[in-house]
Amino acid sequence: MSKPFYKTMGQQFGRRSWAEPWKIKMVEPIHMTTRAERERAIVDAGYNSFLLRSEDVYIDLLTDSGTNAMSDRQWAGIMMGDEAYAGSRNFYHLEDAVRTYYGYKHLVPTHQGRGAEHLISQAEIRDGQFVPGNMYFTTTRLHQELAGGTFVDVIIGEAHDPADQHPFKGDVDLEKLERLIEEKGAENIAYVSLAGTVNMAGGQPVSMANARALRELCNKHGIKIYLDATRLAENAYFIQQREEGYAQKPIADIVLEFCGYTDGAWMSAKKDHLVNIGGWLAVNDAELFDRLRNLVVVYEGLHTYGGMAGRDMEALAIGIAESMDDDHIRARVEQVRYLGKLLLDWEIPIVQPVGGHAIFLDARAFYPHIPQDQFPAQVLTAELYLDSGIRGMERGVVSAGRDPQTGDHRYPKLELTRLAIPRRVYTQAHMDVVAEAIKEVYEAREKTRGLKMVYEPAQLRFFQARFEPV
Ligand SMILES: Cc1ncc(COP(=O)(O)O)c(C=O)c1O
Repeated sequence: MSKPFYKTMGQQFGRRSWAEPWKIKMVEPIHMTTRAERERAIVDAGYNSFLLRSEDVYIDLLTDSGTNAMSDRQWAGIMMGDEAYAGSRNFYHLEDAVRTYYGYKHLVPTHQGRGAEHLISQAEIRDGQFVPGNMYFTTTRLHQELAGGTFVDVIIGEAHDPADQHPFKGDVDLEKLERLIEEKGAENIAYVSLAGTVNMAGGQPVSMANARALRELCNKHGIKIYLDATRLAENAYFIQQREEGYAQKPIADIVLEFCGYTDGAWMSAKKDHLVNIGGWLAVNDAELFDRLRNLVVVYEGLHTYGGMAGRDMEALAIGIAESMDDDHIRARVEQVRYLGKLLLDWEIPIVQPVGGHAIFLDARAFYPHIPQDQFPAQVLTAELYLDSGIRGMERGVVSAGRDPQTGDHRYPKLELTRLAIPRRVYTQAHMDVVAEAIKEVYEAREKTRGLKMVYEPAQLRFFQARFEPV
């Protein structure tokens, strides 16, 4: 399945230089704006980067989700769409790709990740059960709560400290998990919700040793493990680079071994898989698969398209294979690290070690004078946009939402602004522009003031909330 390892020219000759492993065949012009235009745009958007028009953005690092550049092969695949309502040949290509690279037996396609989260939560959580996981993700936890579950964070403590250098900050704290199982009883644990990498912790990886040990613990108690495989190829790169025994193993082999410790996975294909839309859920258990197939036709579409067009499934099947290419994944993760290194050289506070898909700026360290209920990370996101039209996203108290029991803000330890790098879209020159903008905003930090929330939606408030300066 896997290709031989190719070294970059820099690695072959001991040079510093490195370049993207692709050349550009089509371009999309982007626009610069004036400071006055950006001031108007951010006020119109209620200081929320989700409410900006993309036309008003210069370098868009809002997300790496669905913003990737497809390859010429994927675009060719788009032309091969079989738009039959049932049994499209593209579905079978997709099923083959998931079986080959992830190893699960049964595939349920969905329109994107949260469609799959909805199905697995409805199928596998009973009212009142607990769902332990290695840090929450916004949509994942919401679907678990809507199904009657309570999410319990069992990630290692190091993950909550932005400066801690632990190489696998996504690891599950197995003692914490075991205590929870003893306290609540194994029958009250719906399943373990494992994510690799962990988005909210800064794109931090889970080690293979941890996945293996988690499997043993769960076997002891008869508990299933479902994996959020959204960025598992990136997770595999960190295992290859950092974990003993994996340096010579291709990404594809590492992904397959990791999945082997789990009972199934859901996927937002808009990330690792290099497409603009798509998702899936895959499991080994035939009885569960039957229940999921019954649900998918209610919420997503027939079980051979699940909300995707045939052409999208074809691009996705091709994207899966491309996402496992060692050269691709190295370039992808190392581009993020390049930006991180520039910032660290200037002593700008970011989450360390640098994760797989994004740079996370530590807003608490930028603005120690702004209390958390004045939304430091929301402020920092707005300031970066005002400086040079760069769009990031708040990942702090706004994203954490309110506690459903008390109604109070949840105050996460991490108060971060995320700059997610789309795959194969921006060059190293764009990264230089971003780094200089961050430096400028950091230098002006003492003059910066907080925000107040003036509109708050009931669910996933970070998407549509509006703010004004205090
Ligand atoms: C880790 C993780 N899980 C799940 C999702 C949800 O996927 P989607 O946006 O495709 O619904 C995302 C999206 O950002 C994610 O980052």
